[in-house]
Amino acid sequence: MIAPWAAKDAHSAYPPHVHPSPPLGEHDVHVWTTRLNATPSQIESLGSTLSQDEHERAGRFRFERHRAAFVAARAALRGILGGYLGIAPRLVLFEYGPYGKPGLATGSLQFNAAHSGDLVVVGVTRRHRIGVDVEHRRELEYLALAEHFFAPPEITDLHSLPDGERPDGFFNCWTRKEAYVKALGEGLSFPLDQFAVTLRPGMAPALLWSSHGSAESSRWEILNVSSEPDYIGAVVVERPVGQVIALRWGQNDRR
Ligand SMILES: CC(C)(COP(=O)(O)OP(=O)(O)OC[C@H]1O[C@@H](n2cnc3c(N)ncnc32)[C@H](O)[C@@H]1OP(=O)(O)O)[C@@H](O)C(=O)NCCC(=O)NCCS
Repeated sequence: MIAPWAAKDAHSAYPPHVHPSPPLGEHDVHVWTTRLNATPSQIESLGSTLSQDEHERAGRFRFERHRAAFVAARAALRGILGGYLGIAPRLVLFEYGPYGKPGLATGSLQFNAAHSGDLVVVGVTRRHRIGVDVEHRRELEYLALAEHFFAPPEITDLHSLPDGERPDGFFNCWTRKEAYVKALGEGLSFPLDQFAVTLRPGMAPALLWSSHGSAESSRWEILNVSSEPDYIGAVVVERPVGQVIALRWGQNDRR
């Protein structure tokens, strides 16, 4: 992926303005990343872009850091989408699928978002279904989790990796699987052992098979999100895929 463009001053420009986005071709995929590092006063400003139901959801978080993360992530999503639509972030109108996948009420773009740690990733296309997942690399019981969630060939693959490659193999698999169910919009109603992905570090990301049908593996492209150290992410998008562009939202970057 390349990173030719970044929205300037997205956290500090309040009242919120429209930040025009780069052109998005019919088959292009834009992958935005942003850090959740807004100050408390910026969080309050960002909150002004949210809808009533989003405020209610924010109010249900027990911990302030989770509330702040939700507000900042939602505001970034609104800002990014507003840039394509040419409208202020607070005017972006969401609707939700049967399993909670957010979409635009106007239906003029497809997108999906994920966050982990202090990183938010948003994928945007014109009309291709898309799913995104990202995970902060961390110590987990990799094999035990895999036995519980992954498909048999994935478990075998993970076991066969040298110890040093197992964490990346695990997170490759996890994020690719999550991104696929998110692209479908089915959440965990689609059992995670009903399809398999590649996971070996260095091997091309791919959907190997799916119980949704034999056409699934050729229908979906999997892209690595590898631009952020300490994070592993995946984007699953319907083919054909045109230009893939990595973009940065906001300027409060700690790297
Ligand atoms: C609902 C689910 C999409 C949430 O995943 P998550 O890992 O908790 O959170 P992510 O950061 O990846 O994604 C959350 C975002 O996905 C979007 N989303 C919510 N429901 C969705 C759905 N059904 N389909 C696609 N996207 C959805 C929203 O934008 C949401 O953001 P919000 O919480 O700010 O509204 C779902 O797949 C889930 O609960 N996964 C559990 C993870 C797990 O146990 N994995 C096992 C290891 S393989």
